[in-house]
Amino acid sequence: MNPNPNPNPEREYDLCIIGGAGHVGLPLALVFARAGQRVHIFDLNEAAMATIRNGTMPFIEYGAEPLLASALGDGRLDLSSDPKNIARAATVVVAVGTPVDEYLNPKLRALLDLFTNIRPHLDPEQTIVIRSTVFPRTCRQVARLLARDGGSWHVAYCPERIAQGYAIRELDELPQIVSGCSREAVKRATALFSLIAPHVIELEVEEAELAKLFTNAWRYVQFAAANQFYMIAQGIGVDFNRVRKAMVDGYGRAASLPSAGFAAGPCLLKDTMQLAAFNASAFSLGHAAMAINEGLPHFLVEGLKRRHKLDEIKVGILGMAFKADIDDIRDSLSYKLGKVLRFHGADVYYSDEFARDPTFITKEELVARCDVAIVGVPHSAYRTLVIPECIEVVDLWGVIQTSAPAPVG
Ligand SMILES: NC(=O)c1ccc[n+]([C@@H]2O[C@H](COP(=O)([O-])OP(=O)(O)OC[C@H]3O[C@@H](n4cnc5c(N)ncnc54)[C@H](O)[C@@H]3O)[C@@H](O)[C@H]2O)c1
Repeated sequence: MNPNPNPNPEREYDLCIIGGAGHVGLPLALVFARAGQRVHIFDLNEAAMATIRNGTMPFIEYGAEPLLASALGDGRLDLSSDPKNIARAATVVVAVGTPVDEYLNPKLRALLDLFTNIRPHLDPEQTIVIRSTVFPRTCRQVARLLARDGGSWHVAYCPERIAQGYAIRELDELPQIVSGCSREAVKRATALFSLIAPHVIELEVEEAELAKLFTNAWRYVQFAAANQFYMIAQGIGVDFNRVRKAMVDGYGRAASLPSAGFAAGPCLLKDTMQLAAFNASAFSLGHAAMAINEGLPHFLVEGLKRRHKLDEIKVGILGMAFKADIDDIRDSLSYKLGKVLRFHGADVYYSDEFARDPTFITKEELVARCDVAIVGVPHSAYRTLVIPECIEVVDLWGVIQTSAPAPVG
């Protein structure tokens, strides 16, 4: 039997999740509500909260809607933008965004300012859990900020590691990394995450901060390796997908080589750059990965320029989300590709299976209208899309079964 994670059961809420209407906060809120916790979501996004109150997810998260219906129905979940509710919770989880700025420097103040603003609604009896991905040593700064007028505060750092879209399944399956600025914080965070996780892994705070950043930087570097291999193979007219398939077939040591494709979204580049900034910009592997991954759209456009006059063709991009089968377009490289193509004079059309935009056309319209179709993200629906041979297809993932082999160069 787990110890009770709520040291103050008389409080109205077991948990308040700040940023709880977001991609990390909302699935976490639902999984804790399913585990019997009384959860309050505090967020500033009124539109998203209205959608959630109506029982609809504001974004695709597979398996979430039944949990939302049951949490709302049982009264285990409510939402507001009133910070007074933060004081009514025994544990306060922070899951707001932690972006980098336009020069790729971490916006360190954002999280500290948040804590300064909500501090009047916090007290030392609460457990404070930071769930956002942070610049190393941020959690101890938060603990110092909270304790500057005295008091023994309990700040834990428990980084989120889910793959967006699959959080409900993964929160059940993934071990949780738990750390804290005091022994009591670790004890309480362990009790809390033991309610939902198969097991917890205890680390020191700085170890946990690095574990999260290393995980994302590692993934980003792996994608860069695949993308560099793709460009080398493509340069001599070799199909990288055939090479990769042979490499991984029955050969475990190569099995972690991903497919080539756009490495995008709100986390991987951002966290690689946070790590680089923390290491005084001495992270040449991370910077090389950025140059490769961010250079891939340019590589594709250069290839097209060798085969076409770009100002005479129509190019369609299939997939504007940052990854397959979700609707999130944040930091998607499909938009960068579109921008570069337009810069060179091409007439460009966008399409997506999940993301909504009145300027998008359907995949069928795109095929009917364009001379070239580029797969921006491998949504499952593209596996059955029939594209006539007269249309050139650029398909890094090899999802379009009916197309002629990818052109050379
Ligand atoms: N998206 C992922 O798959 C993922 C996975 C692991 C970790 N992370 C990390 O989790 C954190 C959150 O990412 P996300 O994708 O959920 O971001 P998000 O933008 O989807 O969600 C953040 C939420 O915080 C709210 N918010 C912002 N400022 C606020 C404030 N001052 N008070 C209350 N609410 C506020 C926003 O309205 C939004 O609903 C980031 O640090 C990110 O790096 C994200």
